[in-house]
Amino acid sequence: MNSLTTTLEQLKKSFHLALEKASDADQIEEIRIAFLGRNGHIAAIMDQLKELSLEDKRSFGPLVNEFKTMAQDALNNKKSRLEHEVITQKLQTFKDFDVSAYTSHIPGSLHVYTHLIRKIQDIFISMGYQEAQGPEVETDYYNFGALNIPDNHPARDTHDTFWLTTPGLLMRTHTSTVQIRTMENSQPPIAIFAPGRTFRNEATDATHDFQFMQVEGFLIDTDISISHLLATVQVFLQEVFERKDLNIRVLPDFFPFVEPGLQISAQCPFCSSGCSICKKTGWIEIMGAGMVHPNVLKATGIDPEKYSGFAFGFGLARLAMIKYGIHDIRLLNSTQIEVLEQLG
Ligand code: DAH
Repeated sequence: MNSLTTTLEQLKKSFHLALEKASDADQIEEIRIAFLGRNGHIAAIMDQLKELSLEDKRSFGPLVNEFKTMAQDALNNKKSRLEHEVITQKLQTFKDFDVSAYTSHIPGSLHVYTHLIRKIQDIFISMGYQEAQGPEVETDYYNFGALNIPDNHPARDTHDTFWLTTPGLLMRTHTSTVQIRTMENSQPPIAIFAPGRTFRNEATDATHDFQFMQVEGFLIDTDISISHLLATVQVFLQEVFERKDLNIRVLPDFFPFVEPGLQISAQCPFCSSGCSICKKTGWIEIMGAGMVHPNVLKATGIDPEKYSGFAFGFGLARLAMIKYGIHDIRLLNSTQIEVLEQLG
């Protein structure tokens, strides 16, 4: 009995010592198993208790139970104290984290496309145009049919289309689709520009990508003539290239949704007598354009006897490449930080 009392006292001491040293939940669990576990110290004492006389059992038993309860409480207390400390420490770290300290060091810049689109928005909005968007997944009707490109029309072959597995659905091959979507829902006067992503199933090289950005522009009102188109495009290009005296060149072209159709070039902003960028011609092809075909107006419920309009469309990559001197279109979709830093 005396030796058991000594053992119990020693156990209490070593329990408190161990608990004091414990600094995380794992260590606390180890102590719990060592003292309160099925094969732990307290279970061992309980075993020895069986050997004692009834009287000794009566006086010693409650002491063991008391130790057991005390040990359980002490373990639980220490555990929640440690948890609290961990949380407080974490909160302290958050509190000391000054987000504003990092703003000037974050590497990053606006993409060339973002710069250019902002510039284009500025120009068109100041001319009274509104920005519009359309879906990238389109129907045959909006991409072709309503734009006067019926089934079996040869112009379909010039658009290498990504068809979806659902019949009649495709990735839009141009942003001219926005003409139809806008005109269907409004009556003239309408003046819209629509930047957006377009897709063609083409092999990629330095000047072609299967995914690219286009901007469509159009204006419908009474008495709109080709001179309105030419003046608008010329002012736009003068603003984009920041050259107030920039001339444009107009050649006939064919697009089913306009009549007549035109190809518009800008005077080379880099030279006066021919350079490698304009291939020694002094002109750089920029866009397709024309007077909106009466069939397109009819398809959208606008009376071609009463209204007329012009439309134009151009690739953003080409404009960006010329404006910023980029030689490979694929760099515009690059995710390499070195490239992006240079382009930004
Ligand atoms: N949608 C044509 C293309 O992607 C570009 C274009 C040509 C748009 C003439 C027009 C236009 O609005 O009048 O090749």
